[in-house]
Amino acid sequence: MENNTPQRRPRVLSAIQPTAIPTIGNYLGALRNWKAMSDDYDCVYAVADLHAITVRQDPATLRRQTLEAFALLLSIGLDPEKNVIFIQSHVNTHSQLAWILDCYTQFGEASRMTQFKDKSQKHADNVNVGLFTYPVLMAADILLYQANFVPIGADQKQHLEITRDIAERFNGIYGNTFTIPEAFIGKVGARVMSLQNPTQKMSKSDPNPKASVSILDTPDAIMKKFKSAVTDSEAVVRYGEGKDGINNLMSIYSCCTGKSFEEIENEFAGKGYGDFKVSVAEAVIEELTPVRERFNERITDKAYLMECAAKGADMAQRISQRTLDKVMRKVGFLQK
Ligand code: TYM
Repeated sequence: MENNTPQRRPRVLSAIQPTAIPTIGNYLGALRNWKAMSDDYDCVYAVADLHAITVRQDPATLRRQTLEAFALLLSIGLDPEKNVIFIQSHVNTHSQLAWILDCYTQFGEASRMTQFKDKSQKHADNVNVGLFTYPVLMAADILLYQANFVPIGADQKQHLEITRDIAERFNGIYGNTFTIPEAFIGKVGARVMSLQNPTQKMSKSDPNPKASVSILDTPDAIMKKFKSAVTDSEAVVRYGEGKDGINNLMSIYSCCTGKSFEEIENEFAGKGYGDFKVSVAEAVIEELTPVRERFNERITDKAYLMECAAKGADMAQRISQRTLDKVMRKVGFLQK
C-alpha cells in the first residue's frame, strides 16, 4: 500500500565562525557540501558568533565579519527561502541548551579535545572557560535542531563525537530526546593544508598571507599564492608519502574539477610543477569567481541581509524552542 504521509526530509545543520573571510579550506571542506546538500535535505546553517568570542574580538570587526559571513552564505548559492540561515546569537536557545548540556558533560571528556589543547597554547594569555566548553555549545547547536547530518571538515570530527556522546548520555537518562547526528566529511577536501607549510591545516587565522587563499581573493592574488606554494624537489605530479605540498594541490584540484588522482597524474605526466600550479590556480579561480561576484553585490545591501537574518532567526527560534522545551521538562524545571 502506498504511504502518502509526507515525511520530513533528513535535517542538516552546520555553522561557521565569523572570525575572518573563510578560506578555500572552509569552502572545499564544508561550505561546498552545505550547498550540495541544500537540494535534498532540510538545511539549517548558522554564523557561529557566540563561538567567536572564545578568542578576544574587536566589537566593530566582529559585527562586520558576522554580516560578511552571512552575506557569504547567500553568495555560495544557498537560498534563504529554502534553507534556514541565521546568526547564532540571535537565537537564545543555543546559550540556554549549552548551559544544560554543560551539566551532562564530564570535565575529563572536554579536557581531551585536541582543539582546546591547541587553542589554549595559541592563546595562552586567554584560556577562558568558554574555550573549554566550546564543544558543548556546538553540541547544543546541533542537538537543538535534531540534525541527522553535520557537514564539516576533518578538524571538527572530535567535536561531533563528543556531541554524540552527550546526546546518548542524555537520552540514556531521560529517554529519547535528541537525534544522534552523524558527521558528513567529504572524501577529498576535508583537510586542506597551508600552501606554505603543507603539514599544517589551512587556517583563516594564519598570519602568513601566502599560506591561505580566501574565498574572496582576486584571481591575481590566487594565482600568485599558488605559484609560490611549497612543493618538493621530485618534480613529478603524483600522490604519495612525503609529498604533502603536491598531495594538497592535487586534492584542491580534484575538488574543483571532479578529476581523480589518477586522472590528474596522467594529465600532468612529463610536465613540471609550474604548469600544474597554474592549472590548480585556474580551477580555483573558476570555482570562486561567481561566489566573489555575488558577494560583492550582496554586501552592499545591508537592509536585505538584515531582513534575511531576521527571518532565519525566527525560523531557527521556532524549531529549536521545541527541543529546548522538551529538555527543560525532562530535567525537571517547573513550567511557567
Ligand atoms: P570553522 O569556522 O573553524 O570552520 C568552518 C568549517 O570549515 C571547516 N574547515 C576546513 N575544512 C577543510 N580544510 C580546512 N583547512 C578547514 N578549516 C576549516 C571546518 O571543519 C568547519 O566545518 N566549531 C566550528 C563552527 C561550529 C559548528 C557548529 C560546526 C559551531 N557550531 C555546529 C558544525 C556544527 C568551527 O569553528 O568551524
